[in-house]
Amino acid sequence: MAQQISFNAFEMNCISHLSPGLWRYPGDQALHYKDIGYWQNLAQVAERGLFDAIFIADVIGVYDLYGGSDEAALRTALQTPVNDPVQLAAIGAAVTENLSFGITAGVPFEHPFPFARRLSTLDHLTKGRVGWNIVTGYLPSANRSMGQVEAPHDERYDQADEYLEVIYRFLEGSWEDDAVILDRKTGQFADPAKIHHIRHDGKYYPNIHGIHISEPSPQRTPVLFQAGNSTRGIKFAANNAEALFIAPPTKEHAKVQVDRIRKALVDAGRNPDDAKIYILATVITDETDALAQAKFKDLLSYASVEGSLVINSGWLGVDLSKYDLDQPLNKLESNAMQAAVESLRDSVTEEGKTWTVRDLIRYSGVGCHGIKIVGGAQSASDKIEELIDYSGADGINLGYATTPGTHEDVVNYIVPELQKRGRYKTEYTPGTLRHKMFGRGDRLPDNHRGSKYRIDGPLSVIDDFNGTGRAKN
Ligand SMILES: Cc1cc2nc3c(=O)[nH]c(=O)nc-3n(C[C@H](O)[C@H](O)[C@H](O)COP(=O)(O)O)c2cc1C
Repeated sequence: MAQQISFNAFEMNCISHLSPGLWRYPGDQALHYKDIGYWQNLAQVAERGLFDAIFIADVIGVYDLYGGSDEAALRTALQTPVNDPVQLAAIGAAVTENLSFGITAGVPFEHPFPFARRLSTLDHLTKGRVGWNIVTGYLPSANRSMGQVEAPHDERYDQADEYLEVIYRFLEGSWEDDAVILDRKTGQFADPAKIHHIRHDGKYYPNIHGIHISEPSPQRTPVLFQAGNSTRGIKFAANNAEALFIAPPTKEHAKVQVDRIRKALVDAGRNPDDAKIYILATVITDETDALAQAKFKDLLSYASVEGSLVINSGWLGVDLSKYDLDQPLNKLESNAMQAAVESLRDSVTEEGKTWTVRDLIRYSGVGCHGIKIVGGAQSASDKIEELIDYSGADGINLGYATTPGTHEDVVNYIVPELQKRGRYKTEYTPGTLRHKMFGRGDRLPDNHRGSKYRIDGPLSVIDDFNGTGRAKN
């Protein structure tokens, strides 16, 4: 049987995510991002389309590279204002049964101890339908607002490696599975001898000692996503991620990135398919090819050039206001998204030429760097199949031009067509997100780094001093 294709809806708790200016499009609901009803409706649309998840991107900072200030970001609402993504998972889970929720959270911005509790809470409330997109941050403004200095690109991943170690210790290595007794007769809730004090003393997170203060949740560690695809980013992902987002501008470059990731997984001692890979793409579809093309043209006419310059300056880590529109983009150096810079260096435009600022702004008006798929149900589905089969990826991370309109179109036109072709599920697998994705249970598999931090694992460091006497290592 041909491989099934997965869909995620890629969203953000803001007005303008990847398609700047489109909030003005007739019928667009982005301005309702502050309403519970907006998110619950979106969750129901995604569940109707049997999407794996709604993934909520996040930045904790403002895009102020373009023109050297935050004015253009504020004028265009480009990912500013941006509300917290975490609550949206609980809100969406309340009106769905199977849809999962991904939240994005950046390593430099919250200590792993309270964040571990945040993950457990969400995993409990969603009954195991939650994933975490581990990001390292690429906006210098975020660090300034936190009163801290932005670390260089690769060091941010060193810190993330240690952050994960602390998270694994709390989520995997503190509570034994049978620690909760719940004996109503004796009144004993838990057996303290089975709840361990983890110890961690590292470079970025020194002197941590204590128990995880939430009960273990269905997945313990939520499904781990990662979206940085530089050499260092892929190394981090190969050791930690169970799913990756990539944003190549062409199917050829998608294949290069997928091959690189699969090889890195094997080099890290895992199987090449131990992590699912989702390609960022925006699908504009309708009843016929002609209607889809007309819709795309109409959507593009609302795209904000200024907003596009703002987001691209942030992603590439350069101030594009200082660039000539015809300047080629194949010689950039970046402390921001290195994979985005590499994609522009190593790929060519549809016309086969080196990317310039003008090409990039035109291309990224809808869906930013992600691939655009435009066509009626038949031809758009052909292109989706071709993209997945050519690249070897597992699914599409669906950007949107209008919300929820773009997602509704995918649900109405593309999902039934792919189902007819046997390329899309017709029902959900019951259970947690991890089980739905891999079909082998709720918890991290034994060949995953995180499993080594379990209480009986080789990297567990437990240091109980509460009289229970279980000192280890
Ligand atoms: C599709 C995609 C989605 C991303 N979403 C986020 C996000 O929501 N928040 C964030 O801080 N970074 C996000 N990133 C950035 C990456 O997590 C990473 O920090 C960045 O690409 C720099 O890493 P790299 O140089 O290894 O690529 C995203 C990247 C891609 C490709």
